[in-house]
Amino acid sequence: MPDMSSTTETPYADGKILKHTASGVGVITFNNPDKRNAMSLEMWEGFGEALASLRDDDAVRVVILRGAGGKAFVSGADISQFEKTRHNAAASEEYGKRSAAQRALLADYPKPTIASIQGFCLGGGMQVAMLTDIRIASHGSQFGIPAAKLGIAYGYDGLKHLVSLVGPSWARLLMYTGMRIDSSEALRIGLIERVFPDDQLWGETMAIAETISQNAPLAIKAAKTTIAQVLKDESGRDMDAIKAIGTACMDSADFREGRQAFMEKRKPQFQGK
Ligand code: COA
Repeated sequence: MPDMSSTTETPYADGKILKHTASGVGVITFNNPDKRNAMSLEMWEGFGEALASLRDDDAVRVVILRGAGGKAFVSGADISQFEKTRHNAAASEEYGKRSAAQRALLADYPKPTIASIQGFCLGGGMQVAMLTDIRIASHGSQFGIPAAKLGIAYGYDGLKHLVSLVGPSWARLLMYTGMRIDSSEALRIGLIERVFPDDQLWGETMAIAETISQNAPLAIKAAKTTIAQVLKDESGRDMDAIKAIGTACMDSADFREGRQAFMEKRKPQFQGK
Protein backbone atom coordinates (compact mmCIF):
# COMPACT_ATOMS: atom_id res chain seq x y z
CA MET A 1 0.00 0.00 0.00
CA PRO A 2 1.51 3.35 -0.97
CA ASP A 3 1.81 6.25 1.45
CA MET A 4 -1.45 8.14 0.97
CA SER A 5 -0.68 10.83 3.54
CA SER A 6 -0.24 13.56 0.96
CA THR A 7 -3.64 13.03 -0.66
CA THR A 8 -7.08 13.79 0.74
CA GLU A 9 -9.29 10.76 1.03
CA THR A 10 -13.06 11.25 1.00
CA PRO A 11 -14.77 8.64 3.19
CA TYR A 12 -18.01 6.82 2.38
CA ALA A 13 -19.76 4.10 4.40
CA ASP A 14 -18.08 5.19 7.65
CA GLY A 15 -14.67 5.18 6.01
CA LYS A 16 -14.98 1.62 4.73
CA ILE A 17 -14.91 3.07 1.23
CA LEU A 18 -12.34 5.76 0.45
CA LYS A 19 -11.97 7.94 -2.61
CA HIS A 20 -9.23 10.22 -3.84
CA THR A 21 -8.04 11.69 -7.11
CA ALA A 22 -4.56 12.36 -8.49
CA SER A 23 -3.41 13.47 -11.95
CA GLY A 24 -6.59 12.58 -13.83
CA VAL A 25 -6.97 9.27 -11.98
CA GLY A 26 -9.75 8.51 -9.50
CA VAL A 27 -9.04 5.84 -6.87
CA ILE A 28 -11.62 3.95 -4.80
CA THR A 29 -10.29 1.85 -1.92
CA PHE A 30 -12.28 -0.95 -0.25
CA ASN A 31 -11.22 -0.30 3.31
CA ASN A 32 -12.29 -2.96 5.77
CA PRO A 33 -9.00 -4.85 6.13
CA ASP A 34 -10.03 -6.61 9.38
CA LYS A 35 -12.61 -8.50 7.33
CA ARG A 36 -10.39 -8.77 4.26
CA ASN A 37 -12.52 -6.00 2.70
CA ALA A 38 -15.69 -8.13 2.70
CA MET A 39 -18.49 -6.02 1.21
CA SER A 40 -21.40 -5.10 3.47
CA LEU A 41 -24.55 -3.54 1.99
CA GLU A 42 -23.46 -0.20 3.45
CA MET A 43 -20.16 -0.54 1.58
CA TRP A 44 -22.04 -1.24 -1.66
CA GLU A 45 -23.98 1.97 -1.14
CA GLY A 46 -20.83 3.97 -0.38
CA PHE A 47 -19.09 2.40 -3.35
CA GLY A 48 -21.94 3.59 -5.61
CA GLU A 49 -21.68 7.12 -4.23
CA ALA A 50 -17.90 7.18 -4.79
CA LEU A 51 -18.32 5.85 -8.33
CA ALA A 52 -20.98 8.46 -9.13
CA SER A 53 -18.81 11.25 -7.77
CA LEU A 54 -15.80 10.22 -9.90
CA ARG A 55 -18.08 9.79 -12.93
CA ASP A 56 -19.24 13.41 -12.52
CA ASP A 57 -15.74 14.81 -11.91
CA ASP A 58 -14.53 16.14 -15.26
CA ALA A 59 -10.90 16.06 -14.11
CA VAL A 60 -11.09 12.27 -13.70
CA ARG A 61 -10.48 10.21 -16.82
CA VAL A 62 -9.93 6.74 -15.41
CA VAL A 63 -10.88 4.99 -12.18
CA ILE A 64 -8.87 2.40 -10.20
CA LEU A 65 -10.42 0.07 -7.60
CA ARG A 66 -8.20 -1.50 -4.94
CA GLY A 67 -8.32 -3.04 -1.48
CA ALA A 68 -6.66 -1.72 1.68
CA GLY A 69 -4.38 -3.74 3.91
CA GLY A 70 -2.36 -5.69 1.37
CA LYS A 71 -4.15 -8.99 2.06
CA ALA A 72 -7.29 -8.70 -0.04
CA PHE A 73 -8.93 -6.85 -2.89
CA VAL A 74 -12.40 -7.92 -1.71
CA SER A 75 -13.06 -11.28 0.02
CA GLY A 76 -16.66 -11.35 -1.20
CA ALA A 77 -19.92 -10.30 0.32
CA ASP A 78 -19.91 -9.89 4.11
CA ILE A 79 -21.15 -13.33 5.17
CA SER A 80 -21.97 -12.10 8.67
CA GLN A 81 -24.92 -10.16 7.16
CA PHE A 82 -26.38 -13.23 5.44
CA GLU A 83 -28.38 -14.61 8.39
CA LYS A 84 -30.41 -11.40 8.49
CA THR A 85 -30.45 -10.27 4.88
CA ARG A 86 -29.84 -13.24 2.59
CA HIS A 87 -31.28 -16.30 4.34
CA ASN A 88 -33.69 -17.46 1.62
CA ALA A 89 -34.69 -16.78 -1.98
CA ALA A 90 -36.90 -13.77 -1.27
CA ALA A 91 -34.37 -12.16 1.08
CA SER A 92 -31.61 -12.95 -1.37
CA GLU A 93 -33.49 -11.22 -4.19
CA GLU A 94 -33.98 -8.16 -2.01
CA TYR A 95 -30.31 -8.30 -1.01
CA GLY A 96 -29.31 -8.45 -4.69
CA LYS A 97 -31.46 -5.43 -5.48
CA ARG A 98 -29.59 -3.36 -2.89
CA SER A 99 -26.35 -3.71 -4.84
CA ALA A 100 -27.88 -3.95 -8.34
CA ALA A 101 -27.76 -0.22 -9.06
CA GLN A 102 -24.11 0.00 -8.06
CA ARG A 103 -23.19 -3.04 -10.14
CA ALA A 104 -25.07 -1.57 -13.12
CA LEU A 105 -23.25 1.73 -12.64
CA LEU A 106 -19.89 -0.04 -12.75
CA ALA A 107 -20.93 -2.25 -15.68
CA ASP A 108 -21.92 0.78 -17.78
CA TYR A 109 -19.34 3.17 -16.38
CA PRO A 110 -18.56 5.91 -18.92
CA LYS A 111 -14.84 6.03 -18.04
CA PRO A 112 -12.23 3.25 -18.16
CA THR A 113 -11.95 1.22 -14.96
CA ILE A 114 -9.08 -0.88 -13.59
CA ALA A 115 -9.05 -3.36 -10.70
CA SER A 116 -5.69 -3.39 -8.88
CA ILE A 117 -5.74 -6.70 -7.01
CA GLN A 118 -3.43 -7.62 -4.13
CA GLY A 119 -4.40 -10.71 -2.16
CA PHE A 120 -7.78 -12.44 -2.04
CA CYS A 121 -10.29 -11.68 -4.75
CA LEU A 122 -13.26 -13.91 -3.96
CA GLY A 123 -16.97 -14.20 -4.71
CA GLY A 124 -18.48 -10.71 -4.91
CA GLY A 125 -14.90 -9.40 -5.15
CA MET A 126 -14.49 -11.34 -8.36
CA GLN A 127 -17.76 -9.89 -9.56
CA VAL A 128 -16.52 -6.34 -8.91
CA ALA A 129 -13.18 -7.08 -10.56
CA MET A 130 -14.85 -8.69 -13.58
CA LEU A 131 -17.07 -5.64 -14.03
CA THR A 132 -14.01 -3.44 -14.49
CA ASP A 133 -12.37 -3.06 -17.89
CA ILE A 134 -8.92 -4.35 -16.91
CA ARG A 135 -7.58 -6.48 -14.02
CA ILE A 136 -3.99 -6.13 -12.79
CA ALA A 137 -2.79 -8.26 -9.89
CA SER A 138 0.19 -8.94 -7.65
CA HIS A 139 1.97 -12.32 -7.77
CA GLY A 140 0.56 -13.56 -4.47
CA SER A 141 -3.11 -12.98 -5.26
CA GLN A 142 -5.79 -15.67 -5.10
CA PHE A 143 -8.98 -15.84 -7.12
CA GLY A 144 -12.12 -17.89 -6.64
CA ILE A 145 -15.89 -17.99 -6.40
CA PRO A 146 -16.75 -20.20 -3.40
CA ALA A 147 -20.52 -20.04 -4.04
CA ALA A 148 -20.81 -23.86 -4.07
CA LYS A 149 -19.09 -24.02 -0.67
CA LEU A 150 -21.73 -21.71 0.79
CA GLY A 151 -24.78 -22.93 -1.14
CA ILE A 152 -25.20 -19.71 -3.14
CA ALA A 153 -26.53 -19.45 -6.70
CA TYR A 154 -24.19 -17.00 -8.42
CA GLY A 155 -26.29 -14.81 -10.72
CA TYR A 156 -26.49 -14.30 -14.48
CA ASP A 157 -24.36 -11.16 -14.65
CA GLY A 158 -21.50 -12.59 -12.63
CA LEU A 159 -21.41 -15.77 -14.69
CA LYS A 160 -21.80 -13.91 -17.98
CA HIS A 161 -18.62 -11.99 -17.27
CA LEU A 162 -16.80 -15.08 -16.01
CA VAL A 163 -17.72 -17.09 -19.11
CA SER A 164 -16.78 -14.25 -21.45
CA LEU A 165 -13.35 -13.95 -19.79
CA VAL A 166 -12.34 -17.57 -19.19
CA GLY A 167 -14.75 -19.64 -21.32
CA PRO A 168 -17.43 -22.11 -20.17
CA SER A 169 -15.13 -24.96 -19.09
CA TRP A 170 -12.98 -22.95 -16.72
CA ALA A 171 -16.14 -21.25 -15.45
CA ARG A 172 -17.55 -24.70 -14.64
CA LEU A 173 -14.35 -25.90 -12.97
CA LEU A 174 -14.19 -22.77 -10.81
CA MET A 175 -17.91 -22.85 -9.94
CA TYR A 176 -18.29 -26.60 -9.31
CA THR A 177 -15.21 -26.85 -7.08
CA GLY A 178 -15.14 -23.38 -5.50
CA MET A 179 -11.36 -23.72 -5.84
CA ARG A 180 -8.94 -20.83 -5.60
CA ILE A 181 -6.36 -20.22 -8.30
CA ASP A 182 -3.22 -18.11 -8.11
CA SER A 183 -2.19 -15.16 -10.27
CA SER A 184 -0.19 -17.15 -12.81
CA GLU A 185 -3.13 -19.45 -13.51
CA ALA A 186 -5.56 -16.51 -13.55
CA LEU A 187 -3.28 -14.83 -16.08
CA ARG A 188 -3.07 -17.93 -18.22
CA ILE A 189 -6.86 -18.40 -18.44
CA GLY A 190 -7.52 -14.73 -19.20
CA LEU A 191 -9.13 -13.75 -15.91
CA ILE A 192 -6.51 -11.06 -15.35
CA GLU A 193 -4.36 -9.16 -17.83
CA ARG A 194 -1.09 -8.44 -16.06
CA VAL A 195 0.82 -9.59 -12.96
CA PHE A 196 3.51 -7.73 -10.99
CA PRO A 197 5.48 -8.26 -7.76
CA ASP A 198 3.63 -6.89 -4.69
CA ASP A 199 5.85 -3.83 -4.35
CA GLN A 200 5.43 -2.88 -8.01
CA LEU A 201 1.69 -3.42 -8.37
CA TRP A 202 0.57 0.07 -7.39
CA GLY A 203 3.21 1.89 -9.45
CA GLU A 204 2.47 -0.23 -12.51
CA THR A 205 -1.29 0.22 -12.10
CA MET A 206 -0.87 3.99 -11.81
CA ALA A 207 1.44 4.05 -14.85
CA ILE A 208 -1.25 2.34 -16.95
CA ALA A 209 -3.95 4.63 -15.54
CA GLU A 210 -1.90 7.76 -16.23
CA THR A 211 -1.21 6.62 -19.79
CA ILE A 212 -4.95 6.16 -20.30
CA SER A 213 -5.70 9.53 -18.69
CA GLN A 214 -3.36 11.29 -21.14
CA ASN A 215 -4.86 9.65 -24.23
CA ALA A 216 -7.83 11.05 -26.13
CA PRO A 217 -10.99 10.49 -23.99
CA LEU A 218 -13.37 10.20 -26.96
CA ALA A 219 -11.17 7.61 -28.67
CA ILE A 220 -11.13 5.60 -25.43
CA LYS A 221 -14.90 5.99 -25.08
CA ALA A 222 -15.32 4.77 -28.67
CA ALA A 223 -13.25 1.68 -27.88
CA LYS A 224 -15.10 1.04 -24.60
CA THR A 225 -18.54 1.48 -26.17
CA THR A 226 -17.75 -0.65 -29.20
CA ILE A 227 -16.17 -3.51 -27.20
CA ALA A 228 -19.21 -3.55 -24.87
CA GLN A 229 -21.50 -3.85 -27.92
CA VAL A 230 -19.35 -6.61 -29.43
CA LEU A 231 -19.97 -8.64 -26.25
CA LYS A 232 -23.76 -8.31 -26.56
CA ASP A 233 -26.01 -10.64 -28.53
CA GLU A 234 -26.55 -9.31 -32.04
CA SER A 235 -30.23 -8.69 -31.29
CA GLY A 236 -29.38 -6.40 -28.38
CA ARG A 237 -26.50 -4.63 -30.04
CA ASP A 238 -26.74 -0.84 -30.32
CA MET A 239 -24.97 -0.05 -33.59
CA ASP A 240 -26.27 3.55 -33.40
CA ALA A 241 -24.27 4.09 -30.21
CA ILE A 242 -21.12 2.92 -32.00
CA LYS A 243 -21.87 5.21 -34.93
CA ALA A 244 -22.58 8.21 -32.65
CA ILE A 245 -19.36 7.93 -30.65
CA GLY A 246 -17.41 7.26 -33.85
CA THR A 247 -18.75 10.45 -35.41
CA ALA A 248 -18.15 12.51 -32.26
CA CYS A 249 -14.61 11.22 -32.07
CA MET A 250 -13.66 11.74 -35.72
CA ASP A 251 -15.18 15.26 -35.72
CA SER A 252 -13.50 16.19 -32.43
CA ALA A 253 -10.99 18.94 -31.68
CA ASP A 254 -8.93 16.20 -30.03
CA PHE A 255 -8.52 14.32 -33.32
CA ARG A 256 -7.26 17.58 -34.87
CA GLU A 257 -4.94 18.07 -31.87
CA GLY A 258 -3.68 14.48 -32.16
CA ARG A 259 -2.78 14.94 -35.85
CA GLN A 260 -1.17 18.34 -35.29
CA ALA A 261 0.84 17.21 -32.27
CA PHE A 262 2.19 14.26 -34.23
CA MET A 263 3.26 16.49 -37.13
CA GLU A 264 4.79 19.05 -34.75
CA LYS A 265 6.58 16.29 -32.80
CA ARG A 266 5.04 17.32 -29.46
CA LYS A 267 2.85 15.69 -26.83
CA PRO A 268 -0.88 16.18 -27.56
CA GLN A 269 -3.10 17.98 -25.03
CA PHE A 270 -6.51 16.33 -25.20
CA GLN A 271 -9.68 18.01 -23.87
CA GLY A 272 -12.23 15.27 -24.41
CA LYS A 273 -14.10 17.22 -27.09
N1 COA B 1 -17.47 -12.03 5.12
C1 COA B 1 -17.36 -11.75 6.44
N2 COA B 1 -16.21 -11.82 7.12
C2 COA B 1 -15.11 -12.20 6.45
C3 COA B 1 -15.15 -12.52 5.08
C4 COA B 1 -16.40 -12.43 4.41
N3 COA B 1 -16.54 -12.68 3.10
N4 COA B 1 -13.90 -12.86 4.68
C5 COA B 1 -13.14 -12.75 5.77
N5 COA B 1 -13.85 -12.36 6.83
C6 COA B 1 -13.39 -12.14 8.22
C7 COA B 1 -13.13 -13.45 8.93
O1 COA B 1 -14.35 -13.95 9.47
C8 COA B 1 -12.15 -13.01 9.99
O2 COA B 1 -12.86 -12.40 11.04
P1 COA B 1 -12.39 -12.59 12.59
O3 COA B 1 -11.04 -11.92 12.65
O4 COA B 1 -13.45 -11.86 13.35
O5 COA B 1 -12.32 -14.05 12.82
C9 COA B 1 -11.33 -11.94 9.30
O6 COA B 1 -12.12 -11.52 8.18
C10 COA B 1 -10.02 -12.45 8.75
O7 COA B 1 -10.27 -13.63 8.02
P2 COA B 1 -9.40 -14.96 8.20
O8 COA B 1 -10.20 -16.09 7.62
O9 COA B 1 -8.95 -15.08 9.60
O10 COA B 1 -8.14 -14.57 7.28
P3 COA B 1 -7.30 -15.46 6.29
O11 COA B 1 -6.28 -14.53 5.73
O12 COA B 1 -6.86 -16.70 6.97
O13 COA B 1 -8.34 -15.91 5.14
C11 COA B 1 -10.05 -15.58 3.45
C12 COA B 1 -8.93 -14.95 4.31
C13 COA B 1 -10.64 -14.42 2.66
C14 COA B 1 -9.49 -16.64 2.53
C15 COA B 1 -11.09 -16.25 4.37
O14 COA B 1 -11.46 -15.34 5.37
C16 COA B 1 -12.34 -16.66 3.63
O15 COA B 1 -12.39 -17.73 3.07
N6 COA B 1 -13.39 -15.80 3.64
C17 COA B 1 -14.67 -16.09 3.02
C18 COA B 1 -14.57 -15.91 1.53
C19 COA B 1 -15.88 -16.22 0.86
O16 COA B 1 -16.47 -17.27 1.04
N7 COA B 1 -16.36 -15.25 0.07
C20 COA B 1 -17.54 -15.37 -0.67
C21 COA B 1 -18.67 -14.72 0.02
S1 COA B 1 -20.11 -14.78 -1.00
